[in-house]
Amino acid sequence: MTRHKITFLPHGREIKVDDGANLIRAAMEAGVHVNASCGGEGVCGKCRVIIEQGEVDNGVSERLSPEDIANGYRLACLTKVRSDLVVRIPVESDVDSSVLNLQAAPRHTARIKTFDLNTLKEQGLFIPPVEKKYIELPKPTAQDNISDVSRLFYHLKIEHGEHRLAMDLSVMRTVPDILRRADFKVTATIVRPVREDGKNQIVRIEPGDTTGRDFAVAMDIGTTTIYGEVLDLNSGEVLASYGEFNGQISYGEDVIARIVFSEKNNNLAVLQKKVMETINKVLSKIIKRAKIQKHEITTITLAGNATMTQLMIGINPRHIRLAPYVPASNFYPPFAASDIGIDLADHAIALVYPGVSSYVGGDIVAGVMGSGMYRTEKLTLFMDIGTNAEIVVGNKDWMACTACSAGPAFEGGGVVFGMRAGKGAIEDFSIDFTTFEPMVMTIGNVRPKGICGSGLITIVARLFEAGVIDNGGKFNQNLGIDRIREHNGVWEYVIAWQDATQIDRDIAITEPDIDNLIRAKGAMYSGAQTLLEEVGLTMGDIEQIILAGGFGSYVDLEKAMTIGLLPEIDPSRVTYLGNSSLLGAKMSSFTNRLRRDVADVVRMMTNFELAETPSYMGHYMGALFLPHTDLGAFPRLKKRLELLRKVKR
Ligand code: FES
Repeated sequence: MTRHKITFLPHGREIKVDDGANLIRAAMEAGVHVNASCGGEGVCGKCRVIIEQGEVDNGVSERLSPEDIANGYRLACLTKVRSDLVVRIPVESDVDSSVLNLQAAPRHTARIKTFDLNTLKEQGLFIPPVEKKYIELPKPTAQDNISDVSRLFYHLKIEHGEHRLAMDLSVMRTVPDILRRADFKVTATIVRPVREDGKNQIVRIEPGDTTGRDFAVAMDIGTTTIYGEVLDLNSGEVLASYGEFNGQISYGEDVIARIVFSEKNNNLAVLQKKVMETINKVLSKIIKRAKIQKHEITTITLAGNATMTQLMIGINPRHIRLAPYVPASNFYPPFAASDIGIDLADHAIALVYPGVSSYVGGDIVAGVMGSGMYRTEKLTLFMDIGTNAEIVVGNKDWMACTACSAGPAFEGGGVVFGMRAGKGAIEDFSIDFTTFEPMVMTIGNVRPKGICGSGLITIVARLFEAGVIDNGGKFNQNLGIDRIREHNGVWEYVIAWQDATQIDRDIAITEPDIDNLIRAKGAMYSGAQTLLEEVGLTMGDIEQIILAGGFGSYVDLEKAMTIGLLPEIDPSRVTYLGNSSLLGAKMSSFTNRLRRDVADVVRMMTNFELAETPSYMGHYMGALFLPHTDLGAFPRLKKRLELLRKVKR
């Protein structure tokens, strides 16, 4: 794709974008502020820019007079870039250029780590835990009359090097007939053991050669959503994927509510049935999309938190909620998927991801495995950010983990205009450091409806940098602008006036909203700090960060560091995993080595209960500021704030 260079004046900021890119998005990426209230829908008329050189498409609106248009004015949100451009942003004439440069902060988002099949193949690790082997056996004779099963074992050993084979009675019953029906040409499905000295279990014999049709399913059993993927075990391809809300949701939004519900009457069975309905719905959808047959699936790998895992298997999760918070088991043996109601053939094996504790479950372990954290020398901070946040620190030699309750702020909860990331959610924000006018960008470039988690982080970071709020999250009431006001006894900043929104009210961010975010980020930061302190390290020792969860890849990392959610680190050393649980389940479906390693990793992960760790409360109190009471831990921000305050004086 053709790339174009845009130079923004008077800043002199440059950025390269693809042909056809939206000009206001390019400005936001470059960190260049352009007033914008309507999320980029083209209705507020505020995002006026002057195209001084180059070609653009569109950008013309009735909000611009014919004279404006003749003079090169365009609305940035409606403008498509078609060549190298020089674009002037009209700014207040007396603005100090050093303020302009300081307020400009390019976006940095995390690198997204995706599943890398080639590396797996190059490392010789593409050996699924369930494999098919085709074999043509010599027919028995008077001279060669060993039993059918011995014949099968012997020739699998000679031709395929298969050792330590075993077979259940249920499979044995089928062998004589299938061998003869198939003229002694059959395919054996073999489940690999976790330990190298374990048995290779034959779970199915099929007539003829079916090795070309060998499929697995990877599934993330989330509290909110269940995602599944069909994997081709021959090619390593993902053939289909689908997600569906967990049917248990109507019985409680979070794990605690589900546990409480499960304790009454026969409700454990109700919840187990509900999750199974969703699993089977997802399965039926992905099987259809992948154009395969149900019986061709040989294995399903499931990863979920401890409560979801126990509810799925049908084990009462009561003790997860009660001190000392003990799960039923951290490891689960392989079992027939149909045994718990999964709608697969009897030979399909279910593999459940092991967990570490009641609140650091299989989903987090799957993330640690999927991210490769357990194989690196670098000191790594892994954060799964959500209402229940899990933190792991360490590297290939040691790991410490914990869970904390961050509250729902990152998912748009506990915030007056909070919403989940969706069309109309404010996802990006900038503020003019002189006029305090906002630049509001929404998902879908439509008028705003609310604020999502990534938007909230950026808004609070920018308000703090601009001096609109102080490090305690309180508004500066002396700036003399009508956007900062007291409304119903609460101080707030109006991000979008009613006429530029999709709702019948002004959209604002309030002091209690900011307080909720500060508490959420404070819980996460201090959790990580506590873990590190327990092993004699500090946040400054972190060499890389891996983010996971619904938090999203769109979060501006510099802003996350400005509010003190993440420690200051070069943004290029931050990776986003997306659904880490699904990633780990997928990788385990392709390589049995991971199943072996995971047992060692789980044993290596030391779990800390923050409530039982005396230093935690002190760290938490220190983290209830922007970015932290210890500004020295954020040297880049400290320098920037000092410069900013100096030029503004
Ligand atoms: S008109 Fe462009 S952001 Fe409103």
